[in-house]
Amino acid sequence: MLEVGIVGATGYVGEELIKILLKHRRVNITYLAANIDRPTDIGEIFGYLKGRFELTCELPDYKKMISRCQLLFMALPHTVSMEMVPPLLKSQLRIVDLSADYRLKDVKTYERFYKVKHKNPHIVKEAVYGLPELYRQKIKEAKLIANPGCYPTLAILAILPLLTSGWIELDSIIIDAKSGFSGAGRKVNLDSLFSEVNENFKAYKVNIHQHMPEIIQELSRFVRGELQINFVPHLLPINRGILETIYLKKKKWAIKTADIIHLYKRFYKKEPFIRIYEEGNFPQLKDVINTNFCDLGFYTDQKSKFIITVGAIDNLLKGASGQAVQNMNIMYGFNETEGLL
Ligand SMILES: NC(=O)c1ccc[n+]([C@@H]2O[C@H](COP(=O)([O-])OP(=O)(O)OC[C@H]3O[C@@H](n4cnc5c(N)ncnc54)[C@H](OP(=O)(O)O)[C@@H]3O)[C@@H](O)[C@H]2O)c1
Repeated sequence: MLEVGIVGATGYVGEELIKILLKHRRVNITYLAANIDRPTDIGEIFGYLKGRFELTCELPDYKKMISRCQLLFMALPHTVSMEMVPPLLKSQLRIVDLSADYRLKDVKTYERFYKVKHKNPHIVKEAVYGLPELYRQKIKEAKLIANPGCYPTLAILAILPLLTSGWIELDSIIIDAKSGFSGAGRKVNLDSLFSEVNENFKAYKVNIHQHMPEIIQELSRFVRGELQINFVPHLLPINRGILETIYLKKKKWAIKTADIIHLYKRFYKKEPFIRIYEEGNFPQLKDVINTNFCDLGFYTDQKSKFIITVGAIDNLLKGASGQAVQNMNIMYGFNETEGLL
C-alpha cells in the first residue's frame, strides 16, 4: 500500500482528498496536517468520519511527513506551499501540489497575478503541469506535480482540440465562466458569506483573474502566434461546480456541429474522464458534481461565425482533488480511475 499524507487536510480540497483516498484500494492515509490550534482527531473536524477513520490532524512537521509518507498532497493556499515544498523535495517524497505556486513557468507573470514575490523560482522548472490529458508521460516520472487550477482545467480541455485543428481564429476566444463559491476555499472571507452570495450572481476579476495566464500558458504551447483570450469569471450562489460557455471564432463557416463532435471524440477517445455530448445536448452541473468527469457539448451553424462550447466540471474534483488522485494513479502505475469512479 502506498502511504500518503495531506497537508491542508481541513480545507475543502483536503476534505475531498480524504473522501477519495478512503475509497482507494491501493493507498493508506498516514499523515494529516493543517494550520490547527491543537492536534485533533479528524473525526472531530469532519463528524461523518467518526468511527470510520481515525487519524490526528496536527501542525505540519517535516520529519513526520518524510518518515510517514511516500507521497504528499499539498492542499495549501498559494505562498504557503512555496515555502513548504522545497525542503521536502530533497527527501524521497513525491508531491502533488494543488496550489498555484508551481503552475506558471514565467515567474514574473506569477508575481504580477498573485502579487507576491516567488521565493523558489528554480523549483518551478522541475514541476510537471498535472493535466493528465496533456502530460500523462511526464506525470509518470514526476517528483513534483503542479496540479492545475479549476477554471484552467475546464477551459484547456474545452478549447484544445479546436485550437490544434486550425479551425478557429487565435485572437478572439471568449470564456464565460461560472463557479460555485467553494472555489474560494473554506477560510472566512466577506465575499463568500451566505448573505453575500445567496440570491446574487456577479462577474469578478474580469480579464485580470489569476487563472488567465495559466490558460494562455498551456494553450499557447500548441499554436504559433499570439492567443488572445477574454476570460470572465462569475460567482454562482451554489456550493460547487464550474460551467464555462466558450465562444470560438471560426476560420471557415462551413464547419458543422457534427464535425466538432467527431474531432473531440477522436481527440479524447482514450480519456476515461472526458464525456462528449451528442448534438443538441449540453452539460449541466448536476451531471458532473461529485464526479471526476469533464463534460463537453458543442453548437455551431453555417450562418454563425462562432462555435459555442459548453463544458462542466466539479471544481473540487476534476478541478482539484479528483485530478490530483488521477495524477497519483498515473505516477504509481495504478488504474487511472481507481478511487474516482
Ligand atoms: N477550492 C477549489 O475549488 C480549488 C480548486 C483548485 C485548486 N485549489 C487550490 O487548492 C488549495 C487549497 O484550496 P482550498 O479551497 O481547500 O482552501 P481552504 O479551504 O482555505 O483550505 C486551506 C487549507 O490549508 C491549511 N493551511 C493554511 N495555512 C497553513 C499553514 N501555514 N500551515 C499549514 N496548513 C495551512 C488550512 O488549515 P486551517 O483550515 O486549519 O486554517 C486548510 O486546511 C489552494 O491553493 C487553492 O487555490 C482550490
